[in-house]
Amino acid sequence: MSVSDEIKQRIDLVDFISRYTPLKKAGATYKGLCPFHSERTPSFVVFPHTGTWHCFGACSTGGDLFGFLMRKENLEFREALQILAREAGVSLEDETGDRSQNRRGQIYEANAAAAAYFAEVLHNHPVAQTARDYLQRRAIDAATRDHFQLGFALESWSGLRDYLSARKFDIDLQLEAGLLKRSEERDSTYDAFRGRVMIPIRDRMGRVIGFGGRILGDGQPKYLNTAETPVFHKSHVIYGLDMAYEAIRSAGQVVIVEGYMDVIAAHQHGFSNVVACMGTALTPDQLQQLQRYTNTFVLALDADSAGQQATIRGLNQARQALTRVRKPAVTATGLRFEERLGAALYIASMPEGRDPDEVVRHDPSLWRQLIAEAKPLVDFYFAVVAGQMDLSSARGKGAAVAELAPLIAELDDEIEREHYIQQLSRLVQVDERTVAGRVQAAARTSQVPAQARPAGQGRLGIQKRAPASTPEETGAPAELEIAPSLPAAPERSERAGLHPEDYLLAHLLREPDLLIWLAGAAHEREIVAIDAGDWQHVEHQEIFRALKRWMSSDEQWDVELFQETLPGPLHGRLARLIAAGAELPAANNDELRTDLLKVLVRMRLDRLKARSMQIKYLIDEATQQGERDDARDLYTVNNQVLRDLSHLQTTYRNLSRVLVSQGRAEQGVKIR
Ligand code: UTP
Ligand code: MN
Repeated sequence: MSVSDEIKQRIDLVDFISRYTPLKKAGATYKGLCPFHSERTPSFVVFPHTGTWHCFGACSTGGDLFGFLMRKENLEFREALQILAREAGVSLEDETGDRSQNRRGQIYEANAAAAAYFAEVLHNHPVAQTARDYLQRRAIDAATRDHFQLGFALESWSGLRDYLSARKFDIDLQLEAGLLKRSEERDSTYDAFRGRVMIPIRDRMGRVIGFGGRILGDGQPKYLNTAETPVFHKSHVIYGLDMAYEAIRSAGQVVIVEGYMDVIAAHQHGFSNVVACMGTALTPDQLQQLQRYTNTFVLALDADSAGQQATIRGLNQARQALTRVRKPAVTATGLRFEERLGAALYIASMPEGRDPDEVVRHDPSLWRQLIAEAKPLVDFYFAVVAGQMDLSSARGKGAAVAELAPLIAELDDEIEREHYIQQLSRLVQVDERTVAGRVQAAARTSQVPAQARPAGQGRLGIQKRAPASTPEETGAPAELEIAPSLPAAPERSERAGLHPEDYLLAHLLREPDLLIWLAGAAHEREIVAIDAGDWQHVEHQEIFRALKRWMSSDEQWDVELFQETLPGPLHGRLARLIAAGAELPAANNDELRTDLLKVLVRMRLDRLKARSMQIKYLIDEATQQGERDDARDLYTVNNQVLRDLSHLQTTYRNLSRVLVSQGRAEQGVKIR
């Protein structure tokens, strides 16, 4: 049994979920108000015998224990695993063959010990008086100093090394953690940080991953940061996130500043939703991390306009990474879907010559006001474009429109879009209709019809008082006709003796490029691209997510390195999938590939059928209890499921037909 299965077996899902929302027994299931959206009648159901839950209301999602905790607390799988393993009393250490994981663990420990050492020095060492004075001059109080565990590194070549070595952290580990540096000439090592105020940098879980060290006076560099290590990746770090994420979520907004000191000052004054991007341009990675907590981003930037322009340009690039939502738009030729940015980006400009640290410290109410009055990114981007392009030339005008149109196209509000189209047409002195045409062309459209959404992605939301589709209203049978049973030809996955999920994932791990092929093929057939939600098993979901991440990087495919990106307890399953994949025939012809698509569709069909069964059971329950409203709502949900099901069945049959003709063709040409 895998670790995650063992954990699921030991933790009672009903008990667990009851901590978040009261559940009431209803037959063999439990019902309650959905903890993920606000509602007045319960549409959230827990199925104890399968260990799953599902919201049949507005969220229309479901999952298991892991999925619940990850969603509820915005955790990554790795984090949920740690928490649940602890709760279940299941040890994660037992999983052997995971040296890199252990190594990372050791680096965290060495860093934690170093942070404790630096803090101790700052507190008590006579030589650290200058540092204590420095912090006092910067008005950092004792509580804040301790909260951020600020410290001081002595002007010594071996203070830290001696301390850590005495505590059995070996030299190699200290080097790997970036705490020591090696001098080639003398064949010796020395402390990386000397004579600096030390700021521990933590990840979202609060583990020390590195340090920023500030010089006491003027001097270069002002900040010395930990170099890249196995746990410290500068483009990923969001300083202060461990202390800010709860406030970000409750404020519904994150404020992003540039510097460590800005974060520290803001938190000291009670503005806890503030984090820093470490002085570099915001990376897509950072935006995505933050989007787990909020969709409202406020960037507090210094007034220095050159830097500001660079940041805003960078931000415009990085925003590509943000989640988009598909919104229906009515056009002359019918309905189509346009993508809008699922996030709002604002810029708050600090007054000339002051950075957030100074504003917060001297005038907290001004800070509050500046954040409240932050302006949308588009406004700033207009200024950037106007400042950088020659708007009198035809080429400059074209470029300006090309830069701004996508930003305008993504705005959610039609009136806002209109407003900026007018502004842009004035800016480049071009007819408004022409500009509007460009904006429309920039709206990334997709042709996927609504009913093609697969299980878990469709908005099966209960529509209260849905038009004429409930049995009472129409008097017609509530169910759509389900298409007759599926073709009997066995799937390859069955022939290989594998569960469809294992079969598909084993193929993908063996040839990750198939992911790209699958995405294209799904698009062609108007079904939604493969997604983490397509996998029933949490471990498969996580492996798939990691695979997708890998494929969107430039990294060359390498199974061993890939394994490193996964938490240790998943290594076992990964190894089994890879072993299974090695036995499978390469998907090097159309037939084999089409078959993979068919397996995907089959997985979705299975899930939808199970969903429909669940709903029917719930309808029976509700009818027996005389809960007519509930039963009617469930009929509506079920009808949508049945519509999705019937669309998928058509796709499935078409694929089977294609396969038959491809099979004939293949037999003629032999397998390439
Ligand atoms: P700033 O120079 O604005 O730093 O750089 P700051 O936080 O306001 O520093 P104080 O107030 O002068 O002490 C912003 C951020 O850029 C990174 C740091 O993360 C810093 O907080 N930075 C800056 C470096 O990493 N190295 C440097 O030499 C300078
Ligand atoms: Mn500063």
